[in-house]
Amino acid sequence: MKPTRRSFLRLSALALPFTQFNRAFASKAVNKPIVVSTWDSGQIANGAAWPVLEKGGKAIDAVEQAAIAIENDINCCVGLGGNPDRDGYVTLDASIMDEKANCGSVAFMEKIKHPISVARKLMETTPHVFLAGVGAQQFAIANGFPLESGKLSPDAEKAYKEWLVKAEYKPVINVEHQQSKKGGHGPFAPNRFEDGSFNHDTMGTIALDANGDVSGMCTTSGMGFKMRGRVGDTPIIGAGLFVDNEVGAATSSGQGEEVIRVCGTHLVVEFMRNGLSPYEACKKAVERIVKPNPERAKSFQVGFIAINKQGEVGAYSVQKGFNYTVTEQGGKGKVINAESHFA
Ligand code: GLY
Repeated sequence: MKPTRRSFLRLSALALPFTQFNRAFASKAVNKPIVVSTWDSGQIANGAAWPVLEKGGKAIDAVEQAAIAIENDINCCVGLGGNPDRDGYVTLDASIMDEKANCGSVAFMEKIKHPISVARKLMETTPHVFLAGVGAQQFAIANGFPLESGKLSPDAEKAYKEWLVKAEYKPVINVEHQQSKKGGHGPFAPNRFEDGSFNHDTMGTIALDANGDVSGMCTTSGMGFKMRGRVGDTPIIGAGLFVDNEVGAATSSGQGEEVIRVCGTHLVVEFMRNGLSPYEACKKAVERIVKPNPERAKSFQVGFIAINKQGEVGAYSVQKGFNYTVTEQGGKGKVINAESHFA
């Protein structure tokens, strides 16, 4: 069965306990190739990345394939099938980074199906690392990327219509919504489904290839019903994605504002550089997010995943419910439930 946004949530019930998984990895010296993606929708992403890695291909090619697969999936949570901003437009952010610290990002880009490939094109053919808005779209079109219609996916259209019923159309933080235990559709951050589980509209993938090189990607349609022009952590190198080939890589999902505040993935990689395992590094970065305002932290989700040069993997999140998918030898993705700060 092809996973959908809803079925990802159900699939997570099948996930392995974290500790069992972590012990399995602790016993291995170098575990490569290996690819890790956020969420159980990582089964789609890893499924596209693995054939590249299995053949001895480069991590940068694998992570781009992961992003393309997930951006193609109109039923999933990123790409043009994602939720629109509050004006009804889907705007996409993406970043990619390789083993030589080459990186490329696009933000607030409309009607282009594969922001990840635009980001890679920018990385490989220009002196720049970050394009936004109309400029990013112009660059994409000039490089042969087709301009899509901008029509919402059926899921997104339904969600948008529902949101419009309750939306208070004003650019202020709705504190009541932010602190609501039930979540729901507020003007800013409908990052929870009605059942209280957190929405996720970001996919990140990090990989270690057979050559021992690390690369990563992050792609999103951003927070659903965001203010027009809002950009989260995904396209910001060091926030939504960071790679250092001496150390490893990290990516994030969740409420990007909170990741930006602490330069989240750069922090995770620096913690690993200082000797922490990927798990410990993700946990410490989450604690850095929570510490300044533990009360505020009850209202949002952020999850990190990380990989080091030994092919060890770790993750940690603010709230329970975050999971990730690991694919290694054998090629079958395992979905792992991450530990979280709040039980
Ligand atoms: N983490 C994606 C975003 O906040 O836009």
